[in-house]
Amino acid sequence: MASVRRFTCGPMLRFTILPRRIYYRMDKTYGTFCGKHCNLQICPACLSRQNNKHSPLNFQPINSAPLSTLSVTTSFSTSKQIQCRRRISTNHMKEAFTLQNSYKLIEEEFSTLTEDIKKLTSSDKLELQNIAHYHLDGHGKSIRPMTVMLMAKTCNYHHTYDDSSILHPQRVIAMISEMIHTASLIHDDVIDMSDIRRGKPTVKALWGERKAILAGNFILSQASSALANLQNEYVVTVISGVIEDLVKGEFMQLGSKEDENERFNHYLKKTFKKTASLIANSCKAVAILGNCCEDVIDIAYNYGRNIGLTFQLIDDILDFVSCDKIMGKPTTADLKLGLATAPVLFAAQEYPELHPMIMRRFSQIGDVRRARDLVAKSDGVTQARILAEQHAKEAVRMIQQLKTSSSQQALIHLVKFILDRKK
Ligand code: FPP
Ligand code: MG
Repeated sequence: MASVRRFTCGPMLRFTILPRRIYYRMDKTYGTFCGKHCNLQICPACLSRQNNKHSPLNFQPINSAPLSTLSVTTSFSTSKQIQCRRRISTNHMKEAFTLQNSYKLIEEEFSTLTEDIKKLTSSDKLELQNIAHYHLDGHGKSIRPMTVMLMAKTCNYHHTYDDSSILHPQRVIAMISEMIHTASLIHDDVIDMSDIRRGKPTVKALWGERKAILAGNFILSQASSALANLQNEYVVTVISGVIEDLVKGEFMQLGSKEDENERFNHYLKKTFKKTASLIANSCKAVAILGNCCEDVIDIAYNYGRNIGLTFQLIDDILDFVSCDKIMGKPTTADLKLGLATAPVLFAAQEYPELHPMIMRRFSQIGDVRRARDLVAKSDGVTQARILAEQHAKEAVRMIQQLKTSSSQQALIHLVKFILDRKK
């Protein structure tokens, strides 16, 4: 492992400063952090928005400390230090939380969701219907509809103080989000030439590319029709933007940036469009349909955006550290597809020889193996994890601004679930 400089910032905070640079998420731009100055809008340690007040950080290396107890020492005032002692990871959420607990909160609305989606995607063309229903087999985690429904409940409770019941149009958004997601996966497996998803053959593998594309379009058309029936122009604009983002994100993934400095931004933009936009805008849509004010709509959107980015960063990490059996799909797939995700992009800062490989999309014999070895030797996975934790923490910070309710707590725990997921 390359040398890692270690710092402390009060007993609770664990943080690792890596030899070159770590990129942090700030509101709309990304900054670099060199380990000497902190001129970011969000403190990289505690994620509080202190606008230069933390600067300069007084770093004190404690090279002998074991990795698990690393932290950062700052020159903050005592109150800032207390803020800073909040852990980067969400380990403080120790209460027993399972996805099942969250499903219970939305059981009534959730129990018939799949059946209702099947009704929306029924067809007199039996084969088309079979393909459209193929992934609606209860094997997915249904993270998206669950998040959307919990967000609807949280917003409704925040807005009305007592009634958190999910409104019919909000439930329709949960269905639409799952339908768009399913359609995009069917298409994605054609683009990625994947034969396995969720431990079973893909639509493309069973029915071929042409029928897979048509079935994806069919699901999308039914989702669009359900969206139009809501008769809410604002929501139609928000959700149709998601479809545009998905296509643009997938398109962005087909290309690489020649300029090394632009690569990380390109990756993050692509990640937002391909993964986070759907959940961010679905959360936004249920807040709109709950008649929430603009501030709450923004909170809902930003929670979804950050949880979506966390989800994809963890997915990109799992592609390097997990195995096919656990994931139910092939791992190290990204490199084989020519994709440089966060672990590789971070690793390239330590091992510049990765840059030409990234440019040629790992197309030469031996590139994939060499890149995988370099990522393993580097701190790429650790840095990607730190970035995922920052987005996770931002998602928690967002939702904590809404009134406390069981659904709001479930949304907080969901962040930890996504961060700690193994598949
Ligand atoms: C999975 O990516 C794919 C997506 C999240 C979106 C794919 C989007 C399109 C194909 C554009 C068309 C959109 C619609 C709505 C039809 P991945 O390959 O990184 O994940 P995987 O490992 O699960 O395949
Ligand atoms: Mg894929």
